Amino acid sequence: MTDSIQHIENIIKIIENDILESKLAFAQEKICLQEFSEIAEAFQYPLIAGGKRIRPLLTLLCAGSIGGERAIQNARNAALALEMVHTYSLVHDDLPCMDNDDLRRGKPTTHKVYGEAKGLLVGDALLTDAFFHLAHTKCKLTEYLKSLIQELSLCSGANGMITGQWLDISLTGKHDLIWEQIELIHKNKTGKLLGCAFVFGYICGLNVLKTDVIHEHFILNKGKLRQAGEFVGIAFQIIDDILDTTGSSQSLGKTAGKDQAQNKTTSVSILGLEKAQNLASEFTEKAYHLLESVFANFPASSENETYKNLLFYQLEQLLVRKY
Ligand code: IPE
Ligand code: IPE
Ligand code: MG
Ligand code: MG
Ligand code: MG
Repeated sequence: MTDSIQHIENIIKIIENDILESKLAFAQEKICLQEFSEIAEAFQYPLIAGGKRIRPLLTLLCAGSIGGERAIQNARNAALALEMVHTYSLVHDDLPCMDNDDLRRGKPTTHKVYGEAKGLLVGDALLTDAFFHLAHTKCKLTEYLKSLIQELSLCSGANGMITGQWLDISLTGKHDLIWEQIELIHKNKTGKLLGCAFVFGYICGLNVLKTDVIHEHFILNKGKLRQAGEFVGIAFQIIDDILDTTGSSQSLGKTAGKDQAQNKTTSVSILGLEKAQNLASEFTEKAYHLLESVFANFPASSENETYKNLLFYQLEQLLVRKY
């Protein structure tokens, strides 16, 4: 177990390093101008504030489960792009017109520091620049690069995370909701980007394999991984709802008790703490089976096996996390 923790920490260090480099790539060119240095600093602010880096971590572990260490290296730009999109979603989620939050990743929210208009622009920049980094992924087939770009836009746009946020807002304050409505919100607002993490890992895994995956197989696996992401996302959001009621602002790095204060119907308000926790485990279990069925299509090397075990260990940890 200590080995797993250490190994995961080492992978997170790679992610942190790529996040810092992404800022330098932007800033060095134009830093001489005062305005640009402020933009660079604001852009970097929510990204380097902290965060668990779950999405890029899942991308790299999934890539490693299919194509080992080389696939992890290949997936770094995609992992960075995904963390940028996730961070943009948080910056916008915190805006006064949405959840109106003052604290994120243990720091004042971006709009609190730079003002609302610039907070909005920081989110826009993170979203747009993410595609710049994604486009730098080395792909042996044009089909793979196209698929990476399509996946990020599908998962983050109107077909994905935005729909979840939209439903979340529309249903705020309504108290006659049933679990299926909450599930639909979780699946979209949180599950789609997690599905994207798995699909990114899959494509970057394929990229380093000797054989190309035939089309039908490719589509089938992508579908399974998207669904696994939705299951993990539902579980992840259930725990987020639980922590909102049981955690402290200090440990969470964001305002505790926010859901109730905002009159949100959540998994906890509908199911209660215990049922919600059990349901999160059930959804994680369903995700394991889908992931296993995809990984079973590829040759099992000891390197791939190590990353698969780390991936499953990490999913388990998400259920017992404290922040
Ligand atoms: C918070 O995501 C928003 C949700 C989808 C629940 P995380 O809990 O992954 O936030 P960070 O990245 O660690 O700050
Ligand atoms: C936010 O869900 C999900 C996205 C940003 C897409 P929440 O509103 O529950 O997230 P927190 O609790 O503010 O992190
Ligand atoms: Mg929200
Ligand atoms: Mg929020
Ligand atoms: Mg929340």
